[in-house]
Amino acid sequence: MIESIDKNNLPRHIAVIMDGNGRWAKKQGAMRIFGHHHGITAVRDTVKACGELGVGYLTLYTFSTENWSRPKAEVDGIMNLLVKTITDEVPELHKSNVRLKCIGDLSQLPKNARESMIKGIEDTKNNTGLVLTLALSYSGKWDIIQAVKKIAEEVKTQNLEIDQINEAMFGNYLSTSPDPEVDLLIRTGGDHRISNYLLWQSAYAELLFLDDIFWPDFRKQHLFEAVLSYQHRERRFGKTGEQIKEKQIK
Ligand code: IPE
Ligand code: IPE
Ligand code: MG
Repeated sequence: MIESIDKNNLPRHIAVIMDGNGRWAKKQGAMRIFGHHHGITAVRDTVKACGELGVGYLTLYTFSTENWSRPKAEVDGIMNLLVKTITDEVPELHKSNVRLKCIGDLSQLPKNARESMIKGIEDTKNNTGLVLTLALSYSGKWDIIQAVKKIAEEVKTQNLEIDQINEAMFGNYLSTSPDPEVDLLIRTGGDHRISNYLLWQSAYAELLFLDDIFWPDFRKQHLFEAVLSYQHRERRFGKTGEQIKEKQIK
C-alpha cells in the first residue's frame, strides 16, 4: 500500500475528526469511556503512519468546545485519559522527533491537563519531524473570534490599519499559524459534517468521510488509503480541469 503513494504529492496538512468512540464501545456493551481509551491505539497508529510517509502536519480534533456539555463523568474521564496519555506517550513522540502542539482555549482545561500539555509541548519543542497538534477545547468559531480580537487590539493601538486586514494576514492570527492550511480532512464514524472544526483553515480541504469505521478501529492502512484517495482527486481551486492539466504538463 505505502509503495503506491506518490511521495511528491503528499497532503502537507492532514486534519482528523476522530469520531465514533462512544458507538464503538456501545456496540460491545461497554461504557463510552472504554471507546475513548481504545481511541489512543488509533492515534498512535495514525502518528506513525504520518511519520513514515513524511506528512508535515497532523491536527487531531481531541475535544471540542461543544463537548463540554457532555455528562460530567464522561468529560472527567476524557480529561484524566488526556493527562495519562500525554505523560505516557511524550517520551516515544520525542524519540520519533515529533513536535507536540495544542490549539484551543486551554484556560478551560483542568489544571493537571493544562500542565501536562504545556510540559509535553516544552519537551518536544525543538523536534523537527511531524508537527502533531491536539485541538483541545477547540472550535473553529472560537479560533476566528480570538483572531478578530487580536486584530482589533492592534487596530486600537494603531499598529495596524483597517486597510491592511486581508485574507493572507488573517491566517497569521489563527491558532494554527504558522502551519499551512488543511489539505485533507478525514472524519470517521459515519457523520458528514465539520462540527465546528478548522473552519477557515479547511476552506479548500479535500473531505473524506469514512462511513464504516469508528475511530478506535482506524489504523495505518486507513491513513494510507486516505492519502491515496486524496492523490486521485483533482484540486482545481476554482480553475478548470483543463487549466490544471496544462500546468501539470508544463
Ligand atoms: C469522538 O467520539 C471523541 C470525542 C468527541 C471526545 P464520540 O465520543 O463522539 O463517539 P460517538 O460519536 O458518540 O460514537
Ligand atoms: C467532534 O465529534 C469532536 C471531536 C471528535 C473531538 P462530536 O461527536 O462531538 O461531533 P457532533 O457533535 O456529533 O457533530
Ligand atoms: Mg461523536
